[in-house]
Amino acid sequence: PDSEIDQLHELALRLATEAGTLIRDGREQATREVSTKTTRADVVTTMDRACEIFLRTEIAAQRPDDGVYGEEHDEQTGTSGVRWVIDPIDGTVNYLYGLADYAVSIAVEIGGEIVAGVVHKPQTAETFSARRGAGAFLNGERLHSSAPDALDVTLLATGFGYAAARRRQQGEVVAELLGHVRDIRRMGSAALDLCNAAAGRVDGYYEWGVHLWDVAAGALIASEAGLDVRLPEHEEGLVTAVAPSVSDEVNALVRSLIRPQWQVPS
Ligand code: IPD
Repeated sequence: PDSEIDQLHELALRLATEAGTLIRDGREQATREVSTKTTRADVVTTMDRACEIFLRTEIAAQRPDDGVYGEEHDEQTGTSGVRWVIDPIDGTVNYLYGLADYAVSIAVEIGGEIVAGVVHKPQTAETFSARRGAGAFLNGERLHSSAPDALDVTLLATGFGYAAARRRQQGEVVAELLGHVRDIRRMGSAALDLCNAAAGRVDGYYEWGVHLWDVAAGALIASEAGLDVRLPEHEEGLVTAVAPSVSDEVNALVRSLIRPQWQVPS
């Protein structure tokens, strides 16, 4: 029922805002203790873990039967049919360097369908949010996709993974795309890239190799703002969220540039 979605959305808003304050205020301390994960490019601060524990503890207290799937800890399965998909800090490298583009990302699924999403950027006090079927908002203001009328006036955002081989492939695609589009931005947070697309600050976003926690909340926000969002069947497949006026063209072009031997799942 809708009232349950409203309640979940309210809780996601509160948790994202509180987590945002926690990570912003703890940045100096947290970035003194950094370790790496899959490669030396893939950093994690003590705050990524502390913030995820904060979120998990709050969710467990309010909604003990829900599942939680997050970046820094094992998945917790639930019994209620509700699952929280959380990234305590999306844009960890920006966070480490003191760049503003990092965010807390919280999505809520019911029966495997994303029904609410919140992305909170503490450095600018911007809270992007959406409920399924009820539109997307930035601090209460309704968001709308842009409508570029051709590929050569389309501004795209993208991102790169942490493994060297994947980055080389992503670089090849960027090198080719640059000749077709207005420009490409690499801001460093998939969640915020999707929110920027929702706000019409870029015309679209694509990336492959991301995890569900990076994009779940942002994908709903982008889709509720009117973007054509295409999520892959398997994690790490190609995610696209593009203004409808150029979405088919962008999707066809990007897909034509991804080579079969790279084995990007669909
Ligand atoms: C990363 C960011 C980045 C994207 C990477 C993600 P993290 O998430 O979203 O923009 O290009 O693919 O892994 O590691 O900062 O949570």
